[in-house]
Amino acid sequence: MLTEITRKKIDGELKKFPIDQKQSAIIAALQIIQTENGFLTDDLIALAADYLDMPKIAAMEVATFYNMFELKSAGKYKISVCTNISCALREADDIVCHLRKKLNINFNEVTKDSKFSLKESECMGACGGAPLMTINNHKMYEHLTPQKVDQILEELD
Ligand code: FES
Repeated sequence: MLTEITRKKIDGELKKFPIDQKQSAIIAALQIIQTENGFLTDDLIALAADYLDMPKIAAMEVATFYNMFELKSAGKYKISVCTNISCALREADDIVCHLRKKLNINFNEVTKDSKFSLKESECMGACGGAPLMTINNHKMYEHLTPQKVDQILEELD
């Protein structure tokens, strides 16, 4: 069952849409639920679907399509590296190799201490800053080099 706090937050999002278009709030609802639970389980996605009167499969499609949603526990710092064409042309592979080696994990894995997880990302619409990565879907780091990556990771507690 969704907590009262979660329902109140989702209700706040629902005010942005026509009353008969509740499913339009699915992305916001899943973000809220993920923030409060760490990641999205099948049961949580189903609860979101029920709350918005939409088919569970439609909510699952949204949860599995967008990179920002986690379907299993992620690290404290989720590193998403863009590997699309502009970043690829600017040596994103070097950044990925460096991160894999440094953290000793591959994409969709979490470090043993649960501090970092690594995810491959589609274009983030910031190709001019290639190669780039985000941490926890919020902070974007552009024009990366392996040295810059080291500096960024060292500054995280
Ligand atoms: S290709 Fe990486 S941000 Fe566009």
